Amino acid sequence: MATRDATGGFDPSGIDEEAWKDLKLQLEETIPNYDKVNKLMTFGQDKRWRRNVRNHAAEGMTVLEVGCGPGSFAEDLVGLEVTCLDPSALMLKFAKERVDAARNSRGESPANYVEAIAEKIPLPDDTFDMVFCLFSFRDFKDKKQGLTEIFRVLKPGGQLVICDAGKANWLHGFFGAIWMATVVQWMARFVTKDKNHPWKGLARTYTHYGSNGYYRKMMREVGYNDVQGRLLLPFGMASRFRGKKPQ
Ligand SMILES: C[S@@+](CC[C@H](N)C(=O)[O-])C[C@H]1O[C@@H](n2cnc3c(N)ncnc32)[C@H](O)[C@@H]1O
Repeated sequence: MATRDATGGFDPSGIDEEAWKDLKLQLEETIPNYDKVNKLMTFGQDKRWRRNVRNHAAEGMTVLEVGCGPGSFAEDLVGLEVTCLDPSALMLKFAKERVDAARNSRGESPANYVEAIAEKIPLPDDTFDMVFCLFSFRDFKDKKQGLTEIFRVLKPGGQLVICDAGKANWLHGFFGAIWMATVVQWMARFVTKDKNHPWKGLARTYTHYGSNGYYRKMMREVGYNDVQGRLLLPFGMASRFRGKKPQ
């Protein structure tokens, strides 16, 4: 595995502060085209993956989404008490408009919004039935610390569900990196009409992301039970991890 120094601040365990500063700006720049590029680069599968993750929650549960971005996932969390967490104030601003408009149209009360990182969650222990993390785990500064904090805020018996880039092993990762460096870049350029679009930098978070086995092991080390982590079919572009906090 490459060290962070050799890779500009990235490795499978996390991202250095300097690299995160650039990454945050790039992520914020994606907001106007975020859903469109996601749909194109996943052949529309992102919608299915979000539904797959959402279906883990049962009506009335108290749920947290870590790394909510502009609200693409949280807006469809129906019949739940929702908290959206993100370190970017700009992402939270967009999420709030979008998620609360959807909740209001369903007669639900607004969600809660927390500006913070996964590694330091300013919320009490044993609070949530479920924690969701979609396409944000890849960006954590310290993945083990983030998993530890999520474990702390889960209720005993509560579950974490992560959906992120698919990387079954190094060979799969090699082909994934080629996909990210070529097709995704063309698609992002086509949508944004800008050759300096932010997806240029985002490909690095995939290149330095670890394999499913690496994160399954990390989740077990933190204390999660019933840990699973596998590719989502049909294309294997995403992986889903699940783990429970013991009762
Ligand atoms: C690609 S967006 C994902 C948005 C959304 N979850 C979705 O389903 O599309 C990734 C988000 O993770 C957030 N993020 C990055 N590092 C984080 C961290 N350490 N803790 C929590 N969120 C983080 C970013 O600010 C960004 O809004």
